[in-house]
Amino acid sequence: MILVTGATGNVGRHVVGELLCANAKVRALTRDPATARLPSDAEVARTDELPLDGITSIFLNPAVFWNGVDDLLSRAAGHGVRRVVLLSSSAALAPDPSSELAARHLDIERAIEDSGMEWTFARPGEFASNALAWRDAIRAGDAVREPYAAARTEPIHERDVAAVAAKALLTDHLVGARPVLSGPESITRPEMVRLIGEAAGLPARFEEITPEEARKELLARPYMREGLVDDLLRLRAGAVGVPSAPSPEVERITGRPARTFAEWAADHADDFR
Ligand SMILES: NC(=O)c1ccc[n+]([C@@H]2O[C@H](COP(=O)([O-])OP(=O)(O)OC[C@H]3O[C@@H](n4cnc5c(N)ncnc54)[C@H](OP(=O)(O)O)[C@@H]3O)[C@@H](O)[C@H]2O)c1
Repeated sequence: MILVTGATGNVGRHVVGELLCANAKVRALTRDPATARLPSDAEVARTDELPLDGITSIFLNPAVFWNGVDDLLSRAAGHGVRRVVLLSSSAALAPDPSSELAARHLDIERAIEDSGMEWTFARPGEFASNALAWRDAIRAGDAVREPYAAARTEPIHERDVAAVAAKALLTDHLVGARPVLSGPESITRPEMVRLIGEAAGLPARFEEITPEEARKELLARPYMREGLVDDLLRLRAGAVGVPSAPSPEVERITGRPARTFAEWAADHADDFR
């Protein structure tokens, strides 16, 4: 049986779906089974109970383990778990001691390597689903306010991250691999907002703000800490004028092209209406 942590998350929900489609047995973890809306053919369990009996592989979402993964890994080894597929981050590629994002993901990767279990570290860059943070502004007819309008990124559809994770859980092809994952195209924030507006049939607008204004707005959001905000702004500033470098890994691993941001916007049009 495969344990999916963060099973209601952007990626986790699709990991559950992919595994069930492949007829795998799934135990899906959530803090609140009553509101999780998980498929009835998955076994749903509480995150704080962490039931590991019968589990052979784990999809590990770091968002669930803010206090570290040591306890999870030692209990998993004790239960004979053989494989961990980590939702890591491309931030782990540029180990910069001042980057909280890099340090956090690298620490977890090292702990998994040291555990002796088989592993795959999926290292996606920016999620397209981060654009859901613009939902309130777009619904209200307000401008999406972001800095660095010329910065280009390659946002990845959560379904593509999940498809890679499912391959890593269901086959032996990705054992010991650290695939860097991205969307298929390099795109700016104003282009993303325009594509959401077209998909949702709304007049979505973009307004560039200064990095200082963005800092204040980001810090006002729940769960945003200073180190993380610094990382996000540094990444964005570094993406201005940088040539596009989409990763070929989604297509190589899944056999189908990575989904574009326009496809993501079409899939999520209702979220913005
Ligand atoms: N966003 C990006 O651009 C990006 C890029 C690269 C890598 N990543 C990685 O992806 C992770 C986020 O993945 P995602 O978007 O799929 O996840 P998500 O949607 O943020 O959350 C996953 C699930 O984890 C549970 N959860 C959240 N906070 C928790 C907590 N404090 N304790 C226990 N459970 C908690 C929630 O489920 P319940 O409410 O059902 O318990 C939630 O649905 C990041 O943490 C990062 O490691 C993100």
